Amino acid sequence: MADTKILGICGSLRKASLNMAALRAAGANAPDGISLDIANLSGIPVYNEEIYADGFPPAVDTFRAQIQAADALLFATPEYNYSIPGPLKNAIDWASRPPKHPFTGKAVGMLGCSAGTSGTMRAQYHLRQVMVFLDMRPLNKPEVFIPAAGKLFDDNGNLADEATAGRLGDLMAALAAWSKQIS
Ligand code: FNR
Repeated sequence: MADTKILGICGSLRKASLNMAALRAAGANAPDGISLDIANLSGIPVYNEEIYADGFPPAVDTFRAQIQAADALLFATPEYNYSIPGPLKNAIDWASRPPKHPFTGKAVGMLGCSAGTSGTMRAQYHLRQVMVFLDMRPLNKPEVFIPAAGKLFDDNGNLADEATAGRLGDLMAALAAWSKQIS
């Protein structure tokens, strides 16, 4: 059984997502004793207070329970217009609604892939801002910005770059250590 259970949360819903591929690679390159499950955000509706008034939709209930059960969270975010993508913000917004949201005190790490040169720096700093309000405990380092990510994965979405695999493994190890340190 894994010592540290990490929940992966990907801000891209597309099947060929570079960020989802990187999240899977993070799981594959994690040191022994760390497991990664990946949340499915595709069934979460666009937030509407009137839907919430009738209760959490099943996909949100599942997401909140997965967050609660995890020792740590690992976000993989694309950058859309210099910020985090709508589906990711929407999922966070849903999960943050009362009663008692599951993000409080949670150890979180992040990574991001871009097709271009920025490696999602701007989006990751926006994500950190959201984490402050929700009282998450973001890992400061290593920061994992992955530019020109299209060149790093094969046609099946498998990581084909040793240096990136090493960075992802280091991130998983640091996140697991951080979650233990603050628990
Ligand atoms: C983008 N993309 C993008 N890239 C970037 O580096 N900075 C940006 O501000 C944006 N803005 C942006 C807006 C919108 C609406 C889209 C659809 C795309 C490109 C983006 O990084 C690229 O499509 C990634 O490959 C998306 O991540 P996934 O789906 O491959 O994980």
